[in-house]
Amino acid sequence: MKKRIFSGIQPSGDLTLGNYLGALRNWPRFQEDYDVVYSIVDLHAITIKQDPKLLHERTLLNLALYMAAGIDPEKSILFIQSQVAEHTELCWILACHAYMGELSRMTQFKDKSSRINQNDSIPSGLFNYPTLMAADILLYQAELVPVGEDQSQHLELTRDLALRFNNAYGKTFKIPQGHFNPFGAKIYDLQNPTAVMSKSSENKNGILFLMEEEKSLRKKIARSVTDNLGKIHYNDDQPGVKNLLNIYALLSNKTIDKTLLHFQEKGYKELKDEVSEVVLNELLPLQKRTREYLNDPTELKKIYEKGADKARVLAKPTLDDVKNKLGFVL
Ligand code: TYM
Repeated sequence: MKKRIFSGIQPSGDLTLGNYLGALRNWPRFQEDYDVVYSIVDLHAITIKQDPKLLHERTLLNLALYMAAGIDPEKSILFIQSQVAEHTELCWILACHAYMGELSRMTQFKDKSSRINQNDSIPSGLFNYPTLMAADILLYQAELVPVGEDQSQHLELTRDLALRFNNAYGKTFKIPQGHFNPFGAKIYDLQNPTAVMSKSSENKNGILFLMEEEKSLRKKIARSVTDNLGKIHYNDDQPGVKNLLNIYALLSNKTIDKTLLHFQEKGYKELKDEVSEVVLNELLPLQKRTREYLNDPTELKKIYEKGADKARVLAKPTLDDVKNKLGFVL
């Protein structure tokens, strides 16, 4: 039996180079050796207010992007989360086993709730969000979860919930592990290189979007914040330069040592120019392939329907096992 992998991205905003380098770009390589399940996690997206029309469009766009990135629906299970009701069911059960204290310690909850307008209330879904993420992973008995570093705390909670449930009711869930890039597991905002590059940030000047126009991508990279040291070193005192080096190294499939050697005699302008080249070399063909998939909505529908059918088949036995252990009448 192959090991199973699960991962997902929220269609809550336009996908960024952070989503791509931290997660999506790594996903296709698992298709040969693992049993892979990738989802567009739309139930997560509504923890923050969404425009229904945009949510709908982005869900399909992300499906097209997943395929353009190399995920083959014949080799992977590719589906839309809200079409598989088992996620919400297991989420409720796990929420009954999660503690207020541990959920309130989640940095993403603290961060996202602090960004909600003072006069608005914080939706409880935002608080419960990590239990839904745990349900996504545990439902499929996934052992590996390829994500960016910002998700490591949620993964830790997933492991805690799985262990807690197993201890209380007997072995039910596999205990998953994260899979992270060895470097560049967190891509930073180009204007504020100590803040994560996030699709939900207000200021878009430091964010490279996957579907963004060439001119605008070039401009943002050329204007990215560096420092006045003028030396290309890889260290935390130069977060802007380090971030650009990570982007370059990941996209050119080089180690950091090779990358530093490559830029040894060069300055920031050349670094930015070369980062632009590798970003465009990757994103322009990705955009083209994405548009091609989007142009065939009938085919897209077939893919997500078939994906959801296959996902349900995998999810049901685990959910039934959980219900049985809890004493529900099946
Ligand atoms: P989301 O939608 O915020 O991000 C999707 C993936 O992109 C990664 N990522 C980054 N990696 C590196 N640098 C960045 N700047 C960056 N920004 C985002 C994220 O780590 C993630 O891997 N809760 C998850 C979605 C989710 C999920 C799951 C993931 C729901 N259920 C089950 C794995 C397994 C989230 O909000 O990711």
